Amino acid sequence: MKRVTEPELMDDPLQAEAYASADFAEAHSRIVDAFVGYFPGHQLRGHILDLGCGPGDISFRFAACHPECSVVGVDGSKAMIALANQRKARAGNAGDRITFIEGLIPGVPLGTVPYTAIISNSLLHHLHEPQVLWETILRHARAGTKIYVVDLYRPEDHAAARRLVEVYAADEPEILRRDFYNSLLAAFEPREVEAQLAAAGLEGLSVAVISDRHLVVHGVISEEEKCS
Ligand SMILES: C[S@@+](CC[C@H](N)C(=O)[O-])C[C@H]1O[C@@H](n2cnc3c(N)ncnc32)[C@H](O)[C@@H]1O
Repeated sequence: MKRVTEPELMDDPLQAEAYASADFAEAHSRIVDAFVGYFPGHQLRGHILDLGCGPGDISFRFAACHPECSVVGVDGSKAMIALANQRKARAGNAGDRITFIEGLIPGVPLGTVPYTAIISNSLLHHLHEPQVLWETILRHARAGTKIYVVDLYRPEDHAAARRLVEVYAADEPEILRRDFYNSLLAAFEPREVEAQLAAAGLEGLSVAVISDRHLVVHGVISEEEKCS
């Protein structure tokens, strides 16, 4: 099936609100737990960059799971960053190590902090030009930075996309069902992601299909990748 892009930013306040209110607890805690499995034996220290952080649920979960880290979440949607900051204001001390920045990838200034890990969930399929994700990762990584990108992959046809919506979002509000369907159509096939990585000089990262709709890109940036 041909890719059909969707709007990059989730900047409609109702859409952002619906997304922030959805129950992603199980899915997001699985993502955070799986990180430790991909990078075993490391007590993570330093700064984590969460690209396309939305309302920040994964940023909060990473901060809770890695108490020696601070997390910077970045998103281009004003509505999403407002929700993330509201949650930070409610979180008390739990929000102290988390900063949210409103800005568009790839242009958003993110300073020169050496990130220990760069993570991203469900951003890649939003990007009309996917290379901006890999370029942003390369710009802000150093040799040794752990990269962890989770996203949907595109099903083989519209019927398969509709089936996934029925299986995983049957009881969700219509706005979330619509977004999930559009996201499946906008997502990349695993081989397309592999081609993106090769074009970016990031062949050291590997792509793995982990469910009937998700893939993971993970690996550690090497000296050669950083210098190429
Ligand atoms: C599906 S949401 C995922 C949010 C979050 N990572 C999560 O897993 O809950 C994708 C987010 O990427 C943001 N986004 C899309 N394109 C972007 C860009 N070029 N720069 C910054 N943020 C972008 C959208 O505004 C949206 O909040």
